[in-house]
Amino acid sequence: MTKSIIASYLIANWKSNLTVSDGLEWFDTFLTDLPVTSRVKTVVCAPYPLLYPLKKIIERREADVALGAQDLSAYEPGSYTGEVTAEMLEGLVEYVLVGHSERREYFDEDNTSVSKKVARARAHGLKPILCASNPAEVPEIVRDDEQVLVMYEPSSSISKEGKYQEVSEREIGETVRDWQDTLGNSRVYLYGGSVNLDNIEAVLRDGNVAGVVVGHASLDPVTFKTLLEQMLAFQ
Ligand code: PGA
Repeated sequence: MTKSIIASYLIANWKSNLTVSDGLEWFDTFLTDLPVTSRVKTVVCAPYPLLYPLKKIIERREADVALGAQDLSAYEPGSYTGEVTAEMLEGLVEYVLVGHSERREYFDEDNTSVSKKVARARAHGLKPILCASNPAEVPEIVRDDEQVLVMYEPSSSISKEGKYQEVSEREIGETVRDWQDTLGNSRVYLYGGSVNLDNIEAVLRDGNVAGVVVGHASLDPVTFKTLLEQMLAFQ
């Protein structure tokens, strides 16, 4: 019997890439002949300066694409130079990545700041996507709230300088099954790390996840659109 694939999220994480004009151009290409579907939720997590212009273009083109931020402040509005609060993101984005491994590694994020960020996001109607490479990185506030999406993101599998790393779909499937036992099985689980045109089908078939977060392979709009088409073709 062929195993069915139920995948519903295709999420781009542009990280610290693309200027405002690059982002607008990306959308122009991506939206041209974009397949219309309600089966896959497409989300683009863009750098902060791009969010407002991208929201405008999405509205103008009536595109079925949601926006996400890549982080948010753990603090309330106030004297925290450089921070972007949940209040600023409310109404601008639907999703927000929290605790990405790169933020944990380069910006000293830990479960204390991650918990505050999840709480701030939830209080302002944003949907947090908690990124974790092991259960110890899933704080209590996430364990208690099945509305938070959880992304399994082994840091060793993240692409480096555009070079994809080895991905074991079987290992993803086993890990996510374990997490379902301990963190609940009615929440959304996602996978992120070197997803590309060559492995997306296997990740979705064997990885036991409801969708994928795509970094490097999302920077090219044609590739990203092909990933969407592939998801639709084998659903
Ligand atoms: P990658 O990034 O697809 O470039 O490995 C995934 C992520 O970090 O979100």
